[in-house]
Amino acid sequence: MNTKDHFAHKSKSWDMSSKRVKNARAISEAIFKNITLDKKMELMDFGAGTGLLTYFIAPKVRKIVAVDNSPSMLEQFREKSDEFECETEIIQKDMSTEILERKFDGIISSMTIHHLEDIPALFSKLYGMLNENGFIAIADLDSEDGSFHSEDTGVHHFGFDREELKRIVSDAGFEKIHFETASIIKKPHRDFPIFLMTSFKIED
Ligand SMILES: C[S@@+](CC[C@H](N)C(=O)[O-])C[C@H]1O[C@@H](n2cnc3c(N)ncnc32)[C@H](O)[C@@H]1O
Repeated sequence: MNTKDHFAHKSKSWDMSSKRVKNARAISEAIFKNITLDKKMELMDFGAGTGLLTYFIAPKVRKIVAVDNSPSMLEQFREKSDEFECETEIIQKDMSTEILERKFDGIISSMTIHHLEDIPALFSKLYGMLNENGFIAIADLDSEDGSFHSEDTGVHHFGFDREELKRIVSDAGFEKIHFETASIIKKPHRDFPIFLMTSFKIED
């Protein structure tokens, strides 16, 4: 099992990047456009890191559970806990090897799934962690040439092809799968579009 904290040297300065903050804000706006949130909901922020996405979503829900395998990123989340406008809980867990025996009304995630190798296994796990009619709202890179990351932070996928991801998510049982471009991260050498995928667990 790989227990390296890939984000240890970045966690303290993570929130200082205005590009990251803008990206999280744009993703939250795309989520608000596609999903009706309410103050009774308990969500999981998968790969919550320092809580950039949690921060923007928090005013609309009752509780957000931050799940991440990086102790250093979660430490930054913990330090900001009183800035989030909803209840929060922190769970340190490696979602590629472990299971969380909990159910949520929705699962949000930003820039995390490219760090997990087995994407079909991940979406089956997420499906099992949702209440009936629960949603996922997952943002990550569209397919790229590998130049997004300048260093190894445990990257397993150079972004995702939307059609391929749609097939995987559908095979896991999800319905009403929708993609849109939530944000574009501009780097000196090129632009990187970020998709938001929303989908639902509908049991009949
Ligand atoms: C690029 S950061 C994004 C953090 C945050 N969502 C944001 O948008 O700023 C990816 C996060 O996913 C977490 N992560 C990577 N692999 C993971 C795994 N197997 N289980 C849980 N968290 C993981 C990392 O520790 C890191 O905090």
